[in-house]
Amino acid sequence: MPGTRTNRIVTANPPGGPEVLRIETRPMPQAGPGEILIRAAACGVNRPDQIERMGFYPAPPGAPEGLGLEVSGHVEALGDGVSGFALGEPVCALVAGGGYSDHVVAPAGSVLPVPAGLDLVEAAGLPETVFTVWANVFEIGALLQGETILIHGGSSGIGTTAIQMAKAAGARVFTTAGTEEKCDLCRQLGADRAINYRTEDFEAIVTEAGGADLVLDMVGGSYVQKNVNLARPGARLVSIAFLQGSRVELDMMRVMLKRLTLTGSTLRARPVAEKARLAAALRKTVWPWLEAGTLRPVIDTRFALADVRSAHERLDSGTHSGKILLLP
Ligand SMILES: NC(=O)c1ccc[n+]([C@@H]2O[C@H](COP(=O)([O-])OP(=O)(O)OC[C@H]3O[C@@H](n4cnc5c(N)ncnc54)[C@H](OP(=O)(O)O)[C@@H]3O)[C@@H](O)[C@H]2O)c1
Repeated sequence: MPGTRTNRIVTANPPGGPEVLRIETRPMPQAGPGEILIRAAACGVNRPDQIERMGFYPAPPGAPEGLGLEVSGHVEALGDGVSGFALGEPVCALVAGGGYSDHVVAPAGSVLPVPAGLDLVEAAGLPETVFTVWANVFEIGALLQGETILIHGGSSGIGTTAIQMAKAAGARVFTTAGTEEKCDLCRQLGADRAINYRTEDFEAIVTEAGGADLVLDMVGGSYVQKNVNLARPGARLVSIAFLQGSRVELDMMRVMLKRLTLTGSTLRARPVAEKARLAAALRKTVWPWLEAGTLRPVIDTRFALADVRSAHERLDSGTHSGKILLLP
């Protein structure tokens, strides 16, 4: 809403189900030194937003008020010291909060140009997933061409991105999902084998195929021992969430004997400079994949920002595949 002096944000106080989400009005944010003010075209909805809404994922200190971790739109104002971006330029950005808004302030280092050929609205579905997949699959996980990766939650926003990025890097991709329809989507995105975890045994299937060099896991719980069992010697197991729980009983003998690395990371609380470093790496390696059409955000549904509760009801239903977007 260009020209308005106020800005809508979405809050969840007190925490709870989608019904607690409220649109509130705040003064128009200003771009401080090193920041960019973006007039939002769309905002991405992510699973971490649901966890924050329920009161289990507090925003890091200094984060903008309100839900939302990613946005696309046009540059409205540049703070002092910002170079490399022009007023009106279409961009997308990772933010530590406040992404569900008409206007969003982002650190310049977390802002990227919309890749050539990609729709501005769809670009809102990129930042959270490409930053997370790059950091965990390519940096921490050190995926190499020709290696085998197992990606759990293949139809999620993260999963659909990880499948495409791993294929673009020349890996063999196994993935798990909870329905045949979701498995079909994973195959269309390039997965060599999509495993319906409700009807098939992913541990047996991956082990029979020679094991995995890398596992990207958002499930935890009973999956952890299975991941250890199916891992090849020297494999890396990277945890990015624990949908089935983070407390597990584990036979560490196999970790030692196979020289496994059990690791993980979160993105949101990383310092601004660290996110800028990740953004530079994305621009160099992942933006060419986006511009070549090798990688595309998978968009599930679009909702008006005013209908944010319906967007979260869909997220909670777990029936979505890929990204849900909000349009201010
Ligand atoms: N560490 C980080 O930096 C970071 C950053 C962003 C996101 N994340 C995490 O990554 C995950 C994916 O995020 P997203 O926004 O892409 O989520 P999403 O699109 O909502 O997808 C979540 C996926 O998890 C699967 N799932 C849910 N409960 C499950 C269970 N009990 N067992 C097995 N699979 C289950 C669902 O697929 P099925 O229907 O196939 O079960 C769904 O595809 C979330 O857990 C999120 O918190 C971590």
